[in-house]
Amino acid sequence: MYNEVDLNKIDINSEPPAEEPFRQYYFMAKCREWVRNFERKNGRCPTASVQTFGCQMNARDSEKIIGILKCIGYEETGSEEADIVVFNTCTVRENANLKLYGRIGQLKKYKKKNPDMVTVLCGCMMQEDEAVEKIRKSYNNVDIIFGTHNIFKLAELLAIKLLDMPGTKKMIVDIWEKPAGIVEELPAERKYPFKSGVNIMFGCNNFCSYCIVPYVRGRERSREPEDIIKEIQHLVNDGVVEVMLLGQNVNSYGKNLKDPISFTELLKRVERIEGLKRIRFMTSHPKDLSDGLIEFMGQSKKLCHHLHLPLQSGSSRILKIMNRHYTKESYLELVEKIRKAVPDIAITTDIIVGFPGETEEDFKETLDVIEKAEYDSAFTFIYSKRTGTPAASMEAQVSEEVVKERFERLLKTVQCTSAKKASLSEGKIADVLVEEKNVQEEGFVTGRTGQNYLVHFKGDESLIGKIVPVKLCESKGFYYYGEIQRNF
Ligand code: 5AD
Ligand code: SF4
Repeated sequence: MYNEVDLNKIDINSEPPAEEPFRQYYFMAKCREWVRNFERKNGRCPTASVQTFGCQMNARDSEKIIGILKCIGYEETGSEEADIVVFNTCTVRENANLKLYGRIGQLKKYKKKNPDMVTVLCGCMMQEDEAVEKIRKSYNNVDIIFGTHNIFKLAELLAIKLLDMPGTKKMIVDIWEKPAGIVEELPAERKYPFKSGVNIMFGCNNFCSYCIVPYVRGRERSREPEDIIKEIQHLVNDGVVEVMLLGQNVNSYGKNLKDPISFTELLKRVERIEGLKRIRFMTSHPKDLSDGLIEFMGQSKKLCHHLHLPLQSGSSRILKIMNRHYTKESYLELVEKIRKAVPDIAITTDIIVGFPGETEEDFKETLDVIEKAEYDSAFTFIYSKRTGTPAASMEAQVSEEVVKERFERLLKTVQCTSAKKASLSEGKIADVLVEEKNVQEEGFVTGRTGQNYLVHFKGDESLIGKIVPVKLCESKGFYYYGEIQRNF
């Protein structure tokens, strides 16, 4: 395990080992030597700022990046005026790309003040040739670019930059078209000491016709169950009580392993880990959600009663063109089955409005599903054309005006159903994992129920990391005001 590695014992004057993760430990040790010199010269630690864009997978990747940087000796800071700034990018929607160019431009002024500042770009957007070409041409303040498949190489690329190795003066660009194995046992930093994301698989094989993820994250690869269990065991020993198992489609976990196992089987193994109190997972594809998993959700003592089940559209016609492999009817049947097995389940979803060819009728089907499925909340997106995906070349793209008008109606419907849903739990007592002090209200803390609702209630910092019973007194839509039950 990484924690057992002593970087001080690595001979940094020898040749780097070829095998991973030892090669990276070697480069981490080399960078650490650079940090020591920096400290001697400047009388302070070098600082690092990691900005995350996009989904939970990116958030977890950023924790790995921070883990490596901290291990090298960087101190994390929220300010972008740091000695190293990393932008971990997202490209699911086009406006994410446009915003990023602006942010990279802004960094130029910091580099002027601190010419040794290192700027790093990584993540999904860097897997797009067009984006990288534009950065190469127009943003000479960028030092290192890598993609989604070689995050583990950060220390090696940084060593080239920091230690005046060949190629230093130029922008270092290392992007792999395809993944090459999963590198285990590298450090990762956690935002919260008591909960953590755990990748169980990478990539996606579904090729929904609007989505760029399979092109930038590659085909599905599952981690070995033993590696996952070992990681979680380690986290639990380190104080973690809740894990979130992460993958683009966790329901197809394990299919490509040498000894295939199902997602439900993996969950059963994770549940057996003593000391672990809560298990979450994200994201489920409705086409792959098995009866076995539904049954297990009803029985399990540790699985949280929250399911994120992206709908995307309520029109069976559009779902077919989206390549989603379910219909409006089969989706609603699935929801009914889940509610029967787990009556207090909270279901959340993702919805896209304005997919090419979406008619008013199609859109009304989406509104109809929102009402029937009684979602607890929904992430709503305006369709964004992504070059290279099948939907980008489809005829009949919906006009901006129509999309805007539908989006407003969608939001209203979602807000209305969520508020209704949340009000049903008023007066109930829920187990809440306390996460942090509430910054807005003195003397309050904030936590999450198993159903993933935020709850604010009076309490002090000593509760952070504990699971406590809280009465949900007043619903405010997506959060509650509560009251801790003192007799726990
Ligand atoms: N346009 C709009 N939304 C998209 N999503 C994925 N691709 C696109 C796109 N091209 C949404 C889907 C997915 C979520 C993570 O992002 O709803 O579930
Ligand atoms: Fe994209 Fe579909 Fe894969 Fe989700 S399942 S990441 S929407 S291709």
